[in-house]
Amino acid sequence: MATIQMTVRPEDLSQVPKGGERIPEPGVLTIFGASGDLTKRKLLPALFHLYQANLLPEKFAIVGVARRPLGDDFGKDMREGIIDFGGADAGDPRLASFVGHISYFPLNFDDTSHYAALKTELDRIAKEKGIGDDRLFYLATAPEFFADIIENLGAHGMAKPEKGRVAVVIEKPFGHDLDSARELNRQVNAVFSENQVFRIDHYLGKETVQNLLVFRFANGIFEPIWKRNYIDHVQITVAETLGVEGRGPFYEKAGALRDVVQNHMMELLSLVALEPPSSFDADSVRREKFKVWRAIPSIPILNAVRGQYGPGIVEGEHVIGYRDEERVNPESGTETYAALRLEIENWRWAGVPFYLRAGKRMKKRATEISIFFKQPPLLIFNRMATFGPCSEIQPNLLTIRIQPDEGIALRFGAKVPTSPEMAVCPVYMDFDYEAAFGKSSANGYERLLLDAMLGDQTLFAHRDGVETTWALYTPILQAWAAKKPEVFPNYFAGSWGPECADHLLEHDGRAWRNELGRRS
Ligand code: BG6
Repeated sequence: MATIQMTVRPEDLSQVPKGGERIPEPGVLTIFGASGDLTKRKLLPALFHLYQANLLPEKFAIVGVARRPLGDDFGKDMREGIIDFGGADAGDPRLASFVGHISYFPLNFDDTSHYAALKTELDRIAKEKGIGDDRLFYLATAPEFFADIIENLGAHGMAKPEKGRVAVVIEKPFGHDLDSARELNRQVNAVFSENQVFRIDHYLGKETVQNLLVFRFANGIFEPIWKRNYIDHVQITVAETLGVEGRGPFYEKAGALRDVVQNHMMELLSLVALEPPSSFDADSVRREKFKVWRAIPSIPILNAVRGQYGPGIVEGEHVIGYRDEERVNPESGTETYAALRLEIENWRWAGVPFYLRAGKRMKKRATEISIFFKQPPLLIFNRMATFGPCSEIQPNLLTIRIQPDEGIALRFGAKVPTSPEMAVCPVYMDFDYEAAFGKSSANGYERLLLDAMLGDQTLFAHRDGVETTWALYTPILQAWAAKKPEVFPNYFAGSWGPECADHLLEHDGRAWRNELGRRS
């Protein structure tokens, strides 16, 4: 495979500002649902990374809140999480000092009487550490507790104190359809103003996702061709090799469309498709994203297909089918794969199909965006190219590897040297994050937690955006719920999904690009 690597010059990197000016005010971060996996695997490691990078204020406290009486074991458990999932060195003195900022408070989320004691505890910690009144509440519980927690924070004077800045971060899923999302928004906004609310989508914490904006709007050469005149179609893939990983009961109610498409994939799509925001602030960016979602006409049910994996072989290992997973209905109709064809009816994108697919237990783990450009108007070399895989001129293709092998590759045709027939072979210009910038231990939550502490909502979902994406998918969810699929399971674990998903593109004379991942 002919590939041109791209590098970054150390002298350019050394001039990048370290971002030290973005340090939040002292505050108390309270995590509800702190005994769950997310806190240990992602949140605490990310907070430790911020601490290591001197991006946390000198005075801060982290209070884990959950039902179980964990006491000091909580700090120990978090320390292990930071080592196991955050790559921390057990002997690092900064780890010990960081853990000193963590404490635990047991609370039943739906027991109103516990919240007065929580407020007293948070005020006590803040006073002891000289922290002041800034508070950040992180809701990492099961979604059924969101409303209770929010209502109680309001009822106990923790949502809008006289002094200090208070914000609430809400994990996904934010609702399970349009009505429930609207109702949750109503409950949240009855207690918090919209500028206090941070609806998190961890995809927006990924460097490669943020880089989409930089790629498009910090470079002059891509934007002029980023439109229907030059782009044939766009494919977005979120393929996972994992199954449901013991989350059967959650997944049974969710399915791929709710779990990944309505949120993560719509964020990716909006960043590919949005108009240039007038500045990189929350209002401008979120307004442009909202306009993209609003411009998507309702998706005909025939353009949405679903699948469920049966047993198969993934990365050389035999794996069971979805219906045999723990705590999953043996006749489950839940989709573990969803694919869609949609269009964006605006001046830039009219007539350019966007194909989206997300699946579990796929052949390869790869989240990628593929931008297929149109062929040149006249293929003068095609007839003369004669051999093997190079015998047809392939259109220019820009692939943005969100994960793994983070990077961006551009495919173009080059003349095969010494070929008398002007044979054209595809070659790749490949920018690889790790090769250019080194390996990062960040998990994406660093940026989002920091922004939430700073009050910057740019990378968080707005109420209207969430409702718009639910409005788009609710009719499909309803149609799917009304008609149980007859052919589930319809794809083997370790494959590229069900055949019906191929038909979505075949119908348009196109095919899914399955050669995902790094080119070299
Ligand atoms: C989560 C979904 O939001 O995203 C999971 O609930 C999914 O089912 C995960 O596996 C994918 O995230 P990532 O960062 O691993 O691509």
